[in-house]
Amino acid sequence: MNLPANDPASGPQSAAHAPSRAELAASLSSAPCQDLSSLPGTNGPPLVGHTLQFVLRTHDFVREMTARHGSVFRARVFGHPVLHVGDPDGVKTVLMDRDRNFSNRLGWQHAIGELFANGLMLRDFEEHRSHRRIMQTAFRAEAMRGYLDLMNPLIESGVKGWRPAATNGEPLRFYLSIKKLTLDLAAEVFLGVPLGPQADRINQAFSDSVAASIALVKREVPFLAYRRGMEGRRFLEQFFFDLIDSRRAGDGADMFTQFCQATTEDGERYSDREIVDHMIFLLMAAHDTTTSSATSLVWALAQNQDWQEKLREEARSLPSGPLGYDDRDRLKVMELAFKEALRLYPPVPFMGRRALEPCEIAGMEVPGNSAVSVVSLITHFREDIWSAPREFDPERFSTQRAEEKQHTHAYFPFGGGAHTCIGMHFAILQVKAFLLEFLRRYRVRLLPGHQEVMRPIPIPHPKKGLPVILETL
Ligand code: HEM
Repeated sequence: MNLPANDPASGPQSAAHAPSRAELAASLSSAPCQDLSSLPGTNGPPLVGHTLQFVLRTHDFVREMTARHGSVFRARVFGHPVLHVGDPDGVKTVLMDRDRNFSNRLGWQHAIGELFANGLMLRDFEEHRSHRRIMQTAFRAEAMRGYLDLMNPLIESGVKGWRPAATNGEPLRFYLSIKKLTLDLAAEVFLGVPLGPQADRINQAFSDSVAASIALVKREVPFLAYRRGMEGRRFLEQFFFDLIDSRRAGDGADMFTQFCQATTEDGERYSDREIVDHMIFLLMAAHDTTTSSATSLVWALAQNQDWQEKLREEARSLPSGPLGYDDRDRLKVMELAFKEALRLYPPVPFMGRRALEPCEIAGMEVPGNSAVSVVSLITHFREDIWSAPREFDPERFSTQRAEEKQHTHAYFPFGGGAHTCIGMHFAILQVKAFLLEFLRRYRVRLLPGHQEVMRPIPIPHPKKGLPVILETL
């Protein structure tokens, strides 16, 4: 694929001698982030800063800092001063990025830059736009129908497989069970590999890479998680490289085949190396987020039986059998409940960016080369936007109440601007296809006496695996 040597859309300062945005970002890539001490916030305790609070008590950290310093504050996390932005105007400035001033690559590189190198989310500006255009062709309606056809039989057999637990009245660890199901789905739908030993090996390599992305020690030390993660990445690279030629010539409905054949109207397509990088990133972007959001929703429905019944009634009103692609928009009540689960437990609660040049965010003067994090955990709980924000209340998204419409950036579980989640419709489709099958088969209840805690980072997950009781219907 031919990329422009220079970024033509480098904003108002562009001049013959001025570096492009991409060059500017490259020049800052190893520079330490700007000190932000002129802005509201604190550095936290010596050495660790706010890192422990951020990791172990994320909600409290966000709540306490917001109460003391407002919806835009600095804190020191993982050794860097980071400006946390939850004010909706500030969120809009960063996500919409009218001046092309915020680098995704630099914002995410510390966390996932090596394990998920060159994924779409780690590309910037003109290069990102060109890569995204190609990827878009793998998400057109015709391809989505194919994905649904691949996933429906697996969802059916996977959910049916939970029946013994239901029959015996044994608790089912929902999080682990849905994780296994979404991994199996990923093997078939994303990679076109049938379940079996090869799929298991791939799933293991992929799980190791994801686990490594939150490792505190990001160096390849024997026996540590990061080493296993990088070995997982190398295994996946080889797996993809070996299959590219046959997939370019094949007619599979899976996403890997779609990526190998994706071509824009202008004839742009990915090189082999780019296909490998995009596929590895995509597996990560798709898997844990969907697992997390299905878990949050089922947890909420187990606690709110009235809503569970409403969703079941709606599920039963559709033709029997698996979800048909043309019926997907008929699940309106399910949509409300899913939106609410994503508000309370956004799978990507912090979105990293680096401001390249000095700028203004929500009225604050922010120096160039500053680390910025867009925080839905702040905005999604603002009392001036949401009524009783800590409660599960899907009706708030109804057309009559439409609380999310109070600001264009009151609600952004799928991000916004040029990097808006490209898999949003796929994720919604998958969760709907799953819930349709699940709610028609079972009633789900909390395990009596069990207290679950939802940990919000790196991706929301129940600390104890969410044991639930299923009743067969
Ligand atoms: C409920 C499920 C999901 C949620 C909440 C979610 C959320 C997000 C968010 C917030 C971003 C933007 C991050 C940023 O701006 O820094 C993003 C980007 C992305 N997501 Fe998702 N995601 C989900 C599922 C998926 C799925 C199923 C796929 C693929 C099939 C996917 C693929 C991607 C990709 C490729 C990007 C990068 C887009 C770009 O940079 O242009 N996501 N996602």
